[in-house]
Amino acid sequence: MRQPLRLDLSEKLYAKAVELIPGGSQTMSKRPQGYAPGAFPIYVERAKGCRVWDVDGNEYIDYIMALGPIVLGYCYPAVDHAIAAQLRKGIVFGLLHPLEIMAAQMICETVPCAEMVRFLKGGAEVTTAATRIARAYTGRELILNCGYRGWADQWTAQHTTPNARGVPECLRSTVQSFPYDDLPALESILHEKADQVALVFLDAVSGTAPDPAYLTGVRELCDRYGVLLAFDEIVTGFRLAPGGAQEYYGVAPDLACFAKGVANGMPLGVVCGRRAVMEIASELLISVTYGGECLSLAAVCACLQEYRDKPVHPHLWAHGEKLMEGFAEAGKRHGVPFDCTGLAPMACPRFSYPEAELNADAWSLFLQETAKRGVLIRRGGLLFVTYSHGDDDIEQTLEAVDASVALLADAVRTGTLKDRLETQPIEEGFRRF
Ligand SMILES: Cc1ncc(COP(=O)(O)O)c(C=O)c1O
Repeated sequence: MRQPLRLDLSEKLYAKAVELIPGGSQTMSKRPQGYAPGAFPIYVERAKGCRVWDVDGNEYIDYIMALGPIVLGYCYPAVDHAIAAQLRKGIVFGLLHPLEIMAAQMICETVPCAEMVRFLKGGAEVTTAATRIARAYTGRELILNCGYRGWADQWTAQHTTPNARGVPECLRSTVQSFPYDDLPALESILHEKADQVALVFLDAVSGTAPDPAYLTGVRELCDRYGVLLAFDEIVTGFRLAPGGAQEYYGVAPDLACFAKGVANGMPLGVVCGRRAVMEIASELLISVTYGGECLSLAAVCACLQEYRDKPVHPHLWAHGEKLMEGFAEAGKRHGVPFDCTGLAPMACPRFSYPEAELNADAWSLFLQETAKRGVLIRRGGLLFVTYSHGDDDIEQTLEAVDASVALLADAVRTGTLKDRLETQPIEEGFRRF
């Protein structure tokens, strides 16, 4: 076993943070309790390309990548130059700015379903705007939803976990969940309730890839029952292909939402779709002060130009595939049930021990040991490979993964897994839902 990481400053800062910030973090998924607490960095100091340096001076290859927004790499020159150039001219104004048109035009040229575009800030805002548009367009209220759409009341209303308190009870009947990759289940709800349904809303892909016929089937069902279809492309957008999952699978929704991946880390959300549907937004109160904020819009234009000019997406697929293969080989070599599901630019590593406790401890040891070897991976999350992850980075990652899986195999074989954990227990309940 290697020496534990020095994380003194991270730990000290977090102790202060919980006194000042409820939950210690602005983002549920960044809370240290969800990683390998005590053995995993908490605070970052800076980043460049695919690497981050924590406040204690440790260097890592990062696959958490801000939870998805970074597609090109941290401090990517073309994007940073565009932001810096705009910064010299002003951030946000009381009049409109031509960048709004330029960014909207580029999105319409890139995203198959996009004929009109609105800009907001972040995922929860754009998914909420999409439902407002769909309800106004159809005159119906019910949303059929599959997946996480953000923290807004209407989405949280689907859940009954302790962190879903504070939401009016009356909203619960306005959104109904349906299971992923299960056409008969969706059809049965539509058969019963289509005349109440405004919108079917889903992630085109999440941690697992759907049956190839699934999205076409969902599109056909929506057409047959006369309801709108929206894809949440907040993770898949600008990652699976420049035009997102809808380009990759060749299935166009009526509406689509983007946020992560659209501006390489700048805070922007996009709701776009068919002209006939989007046009109604001009009559609705969908309005934020910062929607036309120009640093983010300059970043979007720079990103989309980069996606056109450089082989960004072939790079994400090729390097993601190497990671998926390497993870699965490490599992096989050491007899550990470990591999990745999903698609290569957003692969999802998993341990498949039958016992939940063993799985949780396996993750803790794995995160602890890969972090010691300079690699940051999120427990149960996606591997966000970027255009800045090079061959050497992937090789170094796979060496770290192999050594960590070997150590885990030995710990399980000798019954010493718990003894080898340098972590505090994780809190499963911290998760979003
Ligand atoms: C698929 C998906 N939709 C919506 C959201 C919410 O986005 P935000 O956190 O920017 O509100 C997220 C965030 O993780 C997401 O992954």
